[in-house]
Amino acid sequence: MTTFTISSNPPSDQTPAITPPPGLVILPEEPRHAAIIEALNDEAFGPDRQKKTVYRFRDGVSHLPELALVAEDETGEFRGTLRFWPVQIGGTPALLLGPLTVVGGLRKTGVGTRLMWAGLERARELGHRIVILVGDEPYYSRFGFRRDLAVPLALPGPVDLARFLALELVPGAMDGLSGMVEKCSGGL
Ligand SMILES: CC(C)(COP(=O)(O)OP(=O)(O)OC[C@H]1O[C@@H](n2cnc3c(N)ncnc32)[C@H](O)[C@@H]1OP(=O)(O)O)[C@@H](O)C(=O)NCCC(=O)NCCS
Repeated sequence: MTTFTISSNPPSDQTPAITPPPGLVILPEEPRHAAIIEALNDEAFGPDRQKKTVYRFRDGVSHLPELALVAEDETGEFRGTLRFWPVQIGGTPALLLGPLTVVGGLRKTGVGTRLMWAGLERARELGHRIVILVGDEPYYSRFGFRRDLAVPLALPGPVDLARFLALELVPGAMDGLSGMVEKCSGGL
């Protein structure tokens, strides 16, 4: 089992938008979570999700276990999942964030926010510098994701470019960076 300490507090200069449910904990994903995560992602994104462009980066590549998080309530009930995949941009390593998925019925209660802050903090601790994703800008902008940072980048398939976002975990990490996002099968 992967073990590490997880803090899911936002950076001290930012205030969480909402108060998460009491008793919610963020934990490393374990093998026992795999089936429930697959089922939840199928339900949330549809059975065709694997045809999306971002799945080209996941085909035959494992998510990064050290950055795979789950949310559970105080009784150990599964509440949500966040995974990251390795990618590269012209040889520069980066992380692809997602899927981020919260169990239906428990959405908009702060679970996604807790997973996001925990995952980004862990990524920063591990020395990662760049995170990209395809998702809703009104949601991900609260964590610092920006459309303008991703403008010089390209994806190898169709995507709604307004949803293609990036985050610098280290200021300036994307200075001068441009080009195609590519699969990273050799790890980071
Ligand atoms: C999107 C998702 C991960 C957000 O997690 P969550 O736990 O529901 O959200 P949180 O409780 O952390 O945050 C709630 C806030 O985010 C906003 N929000 C939630 N989903 C949003 C979305 N898709 N777009 C814009 N804002 C969104 C809420 O309106 C709320 O805003 P407020 O703080 O101003 O009131 C979750 O709703 C989910 O699993 N959805 C289905 C799967 C999905 O679409 N995932 C990827 C999104 S691109």
